[in-house]
Amino acid sequence: MAGIANTEPAAHGGAGGGAEGGLEVRGRELSLRYPRAEDAPALFALASDPEVTRYFAWGPYMHEREAERYIASLPAKRAQGTALEFVVVSHDTGVIGITGLSEFSLRDRRAVVGTWHGRRSWGTGANRQSKALVLGLAFEGLGLARVTAWCGTENGRSQTALQRLGFVNEGVLRHWQLHAGEPKDVISYAMLRSDWESSEIAREPFEIVGRVPSQFTASGQGQA
Ligand SMILES: CC(C)(COP(=O)(O)OP(=O)(O)OC[C@H]1O[C@@H](n2cnc3c(N)ncnc32)[C@H](O)[C@@H]1OP(=O)(O)O)[C@@H](O)C(=O)NCCC(=O)NCCS
Repeated sequence: MAGIANTEPAAHGGAGGGAEGGLEVRGRELSLRYPRAEDAPALFALASDPEVTRYFAWGPYMHEREAERYIASLPAKRAQGTALEFVVVSHDTGVIGITGLSEFSLRDRRAVVGTWHGRRSWGTGANRQSKALVLGLAFEGLGLARVTAWCGTENGRSQTALQRLGFVNEGVLRHWQLHAGEPKDVISYAMLRSDWESSEIAREPFEIVGRVPSQFTASGQGQA
């Protein structure tokens, strides 16, 4: 079950994040925190594996500076309210991947979740827990009503993973994405707040520590 510690800037040495304040979502074996420059070697090692990025419009990483550039792009995206992305940190082994939210429409109380983990974490239960943490943040911390996941029609592994967590297949969006100029069909999966509330993963313990950025919070949004 959740605990929201506060919505104020985290104390020094807490959730981190510098002047903007930090934000962490802490679970039993994993935590989510904002990526830092020193995470670049780990992210590079994980996403230089072509299997990890096989269904993405980007990658595999060829140079560590691609991971550095990705990390450096995130504070501006947070400031603009366009993406809230985290490194997934195993309490035992360190950084295992990325999860986060983007494509926000606060008027409609929705966003899109995206996740990639290094191959060693596949099939270990890490996806269940990292999704529990990011969805806990989405529904409870940010007050969203719907979380979408776009999944390539060829990405059978991710389809199985989403369905077993309670995401509902809403059908195929034809030519939804371009990968190197090539149109790709995606399946739209979604979890509504009510789906989440009755799901097993909503029972996973999590704690939100630090400042929940107001530019991502749906609560208090008007009807305009
Ligand atoms: C997607 C991802 C986060 C899921 O995490 P995971 O740890 O692999 O997920 P799960 O533990 O639920 O395992 C997925 C299941 O799919 C099954 N699977 C594998 N290939 C499959 C296929 N072609 N069709 C259907 N199911 C398949 C696996 O056997 C596994 O089931 P099992 O545990 O009963 O063996 C992870 O695989 C990943 O990071 N992939 C690369 C990036 C990516 O594609 N992200 C998602 C973009 S939509």
